[in-house]
Amino acid sequence: MLSPADWSLQPGIHFLNHGSFGATPRFLLEEQRRWQDRLERQPVLFHRDLPELMKTARLALAGYLGCHHDDLVYITNSTYGCNVAMAALRPLLQPGDEVLTTSHEYGACIRALHNHLEGTGAAIRTVNIPMPVPPRAQILQLLRQGITNRTRAVFISHVTSPTAVALPVEELLGELRTAGILSIVDGSHVPGHLPLNLEELGADFYTGNLHKWMCTPKGSAFFYVRRAMQDAVRPLITSWGGDGSGLKESRFVDEHEYLGTRDPSAFLTVPTVLQWMDRNDWHSVVTRCKDMVQETVDALEARHGFQPMHADRADECLLMGAVLLPQHVDVVQAKEDLYNKHNVEVVVHRWLNQPILRFSVFAHTTSVDLEALLNASSTLK
Ligand SMILES: Cc1ncc(COP(=O)(O)O)c(C=O)c1O
Repeated sequence: MLSPADWSLQPGIHFLNHGSFGATPRFLLEEQRRWQDRLERQPVLFHRDLPELMKTARLALAGYLGCHHDDLVYITNSTYGCNVAMAALRPLLQPGDEVLTTSHEYGACIRALHNHLEGTGAAIRTVNIPMPVPPRAQILQLLRQGITNRTRAVFISHVTSPTAVALPVEELLGELRTAGILSIVDGSHVPGHLPLNLEELGADFYTGNLHKWMCTPKGSAFFYVRRAMQDAVRPLITSWGGDGSGLKESRFVDEHEYLGTRDPSAFLTVPTVLQWMDRNDWHSVVTRCKDMVQETVDALEARHGFQPMHADRADECLLMGAVLLPQHVDVVQAKEDLYNKHNVEVVVHRWLNQPILRFSVFAHTTSVDLEALLNASSTLK
């Protein structure tokens, strides 16, 4: 049974923001340290063995995520993955084309989309998803309505960061494929959180962080590209990989995994992480945490009158919960007060002019943490 003592989170802080950066259990940090020690003992031999070690790590992850091990590569974070996908999209765009996205995307990735589209003549069309968010079927309908005969690609989060909503990516992607529209899915919050089978999902590009809900050490993420698109995808850094002297898989794998000297230790912990998840019956861990999210959203509404982010409570099945705060709330001050006066670490921010509180529940979260949030948030009314 997992317990807060398995993590090195600061005692006395009610840490309810696993969603932003994840948190790594101590034993995994030790595992990472063992890989680093091995590297430091004999760097040359380590790099000789690295292609095989990386392949083992890729095989394990691909098995978990339902794809071939040559269709995904390890990258440091999903911001990078989104950027690589957008850079690959750029030469495919013509003036007048549109890239569809939503109003709930992660800010850094929207910045990236603007940068990569600059000078192409293509426009970004944003589907506005109101808050509280409508039921899933209605969101799908809004997305469909955003598609025009100029839509060349869709950039969409699988789970949104600012609002903690699972978007109907599963339903949408098949329709996009049929219409010949490319898809870039930001699945930063998905591995370890929602079931994911990349081959069945059928995205052209999909990136996800492992350091969030799989708890791997920081700087571990993956980037999946559908086989037919792989030749068109270049890493943002050109190094040796792919010139025939680097790794020896496909060009896609070689070029993206060998980006010059870097620390691969976080990637190499992945087989161990997957065994740890299995040993702890991950499904039941996640289910228990999701139930705690739902109970807490209910209590925030019942005790303080905060409106849940989801209009349809059946859609609210995530490890992060969000509620809408009253308009008068000064979000910067509120966040500081929750932390400084109540030791509660959560996200309080204004998104599309709506103050929002977002909290996370994970295996290190206790009912005491959630009670502290419930008590402290009476100051936000
Ligand atoms: C939806 C989404 N996209 C992208 C990111 C960026 O993650 P990273 O900083 O690991 O690249 C995040 C991080 O919170 C996110 O929630």
